[in-house]
Amino acid sequence: MIIEQQVALQNSNSFGIMARAQRLVRLHEAADVTALLAHLRSSGAPPNKPFILGGGSNIVLTGDVKPLVVKVELKGRRLVEETPKAWVVEAAAGENWHDLVTWTLHNGYPGLENLALIPGSVGASPVQNIGAYGVELQDRFDSLDAVDLQTGQFFTLTAAQCAFGYRDSVFKHTSVANLGNATSSSGSGFGLAGRALILAVRFALPKPWKPVLGYADLEKKQLQSQTTSPTAWQIYQWVCEIRRAKLPDPALLGNAGSFFKNPTVTPEQCADIIAREPKVVHYPMLNGSVKLAAGWLIDACGWRGKSVGNAGVYEKQALVLVNRGGPADPVTGGEVMTLAKAIQTSVYERFGIMLEHEPVVI
Ligand code: EPU
Repeated sequence: MIIEQQVALQNSNSFGIMARAQRLVRLHEAADVTALLAHLRSSGAPPNKPFILGGGSNIVLTGDVKPLVVKVELKGRRLVEETPKAWVVEAAAGENWHDLVTWTLHNGYPGLENLALIPGSVGASPVQNIGAYGVELQDRFDSLDAVDLQTGQFFTLTAAQCAFGYRDSVFKHTSVANLGNATSSSGSGFGLAGRALILAVRFALPKPWKPVLGYADLEKKQLQSQTTSPTAWQIYQWVCEIRRAKLPDPALLGNAGSFFKNPTVTPEQCADIIAREPKVVHYPMLNGSVKLAAGWLIDACGWRGKSVGNAGVYEKQALVLVNRGGPADPVTGGEVMTLAKAIQTSVYERFGIMLEHEPVVI
């Protein structure tokens, strides 16, 4: 196994932040995973857990990364099973998410089209239960294979064991429980953050395919095109158009997608905000709570288009923070977090809501 030293990470995080990995290993194939496990065993109890790097599209680097960086570059996609109820497709963790979505449609396995163009890797997709335009990863998830970096044990998790929530899963939490409990856990107090290395994910794409069009932006597209029964490809094209119009392409303008989660409040809190701010964008949830559009709250506080140093708030979507620096002078993680804190403070002072950031800060 080759441990690379002082590796530049600027091209490995979608913000384009300049930082280095003091030590980095790349996983291309199963043998690399075995070698990594042997290395971790032989190096004893490390002071820092390894840091697993996927597509780097949901991280803020605030300095050089001291723990061993494990860059997941495992590749492979295949149909593993076709039943009367679903196509089950498997992809290795290092596959690009959007390429997988495109590949499934090309091969006649629809179901992921609403999740087109989300940046990042397949291995990162269950970690934050990615979601867009009325579909969340958990709606199409079958199971995943992973390895426990502490014990070297390989395991498979079902959706219930992943404890998916809104931009949340068992992979975002730490716990003292050991892996033996994974089979009986559905999330309470159990966490695998920094411990589980996801190797492959399987998706169950339901048959017969049904379009998911409830989201307002998609309804608008359907109305414009006067199509009564769009195909999965059509929805894929619409989602790509909507995203390109609203969200910056990380290849052109560094960003980590939505920077904050949409907060949920009680109906009473929401009524109180509506009394003061009648235009607040809000969505009643099935569990009785109300979700507020964080982008709207930030926008209402006047942040859209503003900057702190090289960290900016995107002009077309206030929920997205962007890198306004050039390649030689990119935004720093410190600038991003200073801007994020200033936004949190002003939203809190005006609405009494503390926004929670989505990306992992390292
Ligand atoms: N809005 C404003 N001003 C803004 C931004 C938004 O008034 O600057 C309003 C919009 O007009 C709209 C509402 O806020 O009425 C919601 O905005 P949008 O439809 O763009 O969706 P969102 O809630 O901001 C979420 C996800 C996105 C996902 C879209 C579409 C989160 C944190 N974000 O954004 O996910 O693509 O819905 O489903 O849940 C991501 O996680 O990186 C991401 C892009």
